[in-house]
Amino acid sequence: MSDAGLRELTRLARQARRRAHAPYSRFKVGAALRTKSGEIVTGCNVENASYGLTLCAERVAVFKAVSEGLRRFDAITVVADGKRPAAPCGPCRQILWEFCGDIVVHMENLEGRRETRRLSELLPFPFDDRNL
Ligand code: THU
Repeated sequence: MSDAGLRELTRLARQARRRAHAPYSRFKVGAALRTKSGEIVTGCNVENASYGLTLCAERVAVFKAVSEGLRRFDAITVVADGKRPAAPCGPCRQILWEFCGDIVVHMENLEGRRETRRLSELLPFPFDDRNL
């Protein structure tokens, strides 16, 4: 992905992060998922008083996109305000693998510390339809 493309995806993830509903953890996360044809769908974490019902930003972005009929993704950016770049949690890695395959995962914190990996590095030896 071009530098400009990555910057734009990150800008949109930061913007989405501001819409997070995170009154319990106060940890806001934003994500921006891009299709191979350039459409971008964002997500933020949405918490609930029944904590276990919380949805992560990445999953919100994936499910929004899939429910709008979008497939064939090539990159996701995740932004959070942590010391380290915002790595997707384990369940989100599994969901990303199901719908996005081996996409580029770009992670940033608000200070601009960043890390870019392929999903296969974050989720080696995945469980998927080949196991069924
Ligand atoms: N969270 C995400 O949105 N994405 C992740 O990959 C990790 C965690 C959210 C869930 C919860 O609202 C908050 O961050 C603290 O765990």
